[in-house]
Amino acid sequence: MKVLVTGGCGFLGSHVCELFRKEGWEVVSYDSMTKYELAKTGYGTEKTRNFNWDYLKALGCEMVKADVCDEQAMKDHSSGCNFIVHTAAQPAMTISWEDPRLDFNTNVLGTFNVLDAARKHRIPVVNTSSIHVYGNSINDTLKEGATSYERTPVAIDEKHPVMVGQLSPLHASKMAAEHYVRTFTDMLQTPGASFRFTGIYGPRQFGGEDHGWVANFAIRAVFGLPLRVFGTGKQSRDILYAGDGAQSYLAYFKNPIPGVYNIGGGPEHKISLIECIAMIGEILGTKPVIEFHPERPGDMRYFICDITEARKFGFNPKVKPREGVEKLIRWVEENKSVFNITGK
Ligand SMILES: NC(=O)c1ccc[n+]([C@@H]2O[C@H](COP(=O)([O-])OP(=O)(O)OC[C@H]3O[C@@H](n4cnc5c(N)ncnc54)[C@H](O)[C@@H]3O)[C@@H](O)[C@H]2O)c1
Repeated sequence: MKVLVTGGCGFLGSHVCELFRKEGWEVVSYDSMTKYELAKTGYGTEKTRNFNWDYLKALGCEMVKADVCDEQAMKDHSSGCNFIVHTAAQPAMTISWEDPRLDFNTNVLGTFNVLDAARKHRIPVVNTSSIHVYGNSINDTLKEGATSYERTPVAIDEKHPVMVGQLSPLHASKMAAEHYVRTFTDMLQTPGASFRFTGIYGPRQFGGEDHGWVANFAIRAVFGLPLRVFGTGKQSRDILYAGDGAQSYLAYFKNPIPGVYNIGGGPEHKISLIECIAMIGEILGTKPVIEFHPERPGDMRYFICDITEARKFGFNPKVKPREGVEKLIRWVEENKSVFNITGK
């Protein structure tokens, strides 16, 4: 069996590659190796960028440096594959307003090319979407608790209205990608699913301030840097450990039911930014310094996934936040030399 993972050298993609490799699959990691976001983290671009490439190469993955916008390369490299997991993306809301064309090309044109390659070779495909597609009118339904935003009912399912509130180009590009998955399923004999992921975290995540907040806090705390929080810090998510995220694709391959799915930890994994920072402090035995900044426009203050639908095809998140955050911190501590912290 052979899987092509777009964005294979990214954070989530690397966990997907690792899981399928461990299951005995041939794995093609297909990644443009963009440095756009990493260049902004202040962690040092070269070593951090190559980390996942070297890790996957050592696991025996076939490494391809190519762009999802390259139609021919997508078609050539997916030939002979049994499954495509599409994680390549421009994933950050902040970058989507800095460079909306990059966002459009990567997320819309890129996803179209992935689907078209899947159609040519008749390969099932999963597109990685985001809870961003729900927009942020959820902010109007919340109560402010002592350390987190609260809502009743706690969890939100796929029937919740999408694209409501103040929207960024990222909302539009992620939603457009989902629409294309649907049309390829309905009319072009290319069955696919879109997974609306919550906040994901874990080892091999070089999270900056643009996306990947759990890792951003963990890395900065390990290096003794102040943690920057935008807004009250009570924003809440059902954070999902990356290994569990990777399992969702394998479960889907074994039991494919086209559609859209929320993929998160569910209510048991609910944690706010400041609760997560307190947990990181407890694990490290320190008290991280927090700098509060104004909330960023478009920020979603709350999302907790109802994962009933995804459980039907076998998704089953297992790693609880405390255990997962400990693993993330251990990885940062063991790989300190990879980070060239400039004190940003
Ligand atoms: N990290 C999260 O918390 C989170 C939450 C919700 C959804 N997601 C989604 O999960 C997916 C993976 O996110 P991630 O956190 O692993 O991001 P990431 O930035 O770590 O990985 C994305 C990878 O895609 C590659 N890439 C970017 N543009 C490309 C292109 N044009 N062609 C080929 N490769 C390209 C990058 O080089 C990178 O390695 C994205 O679709 C993202 O929207 C992530």
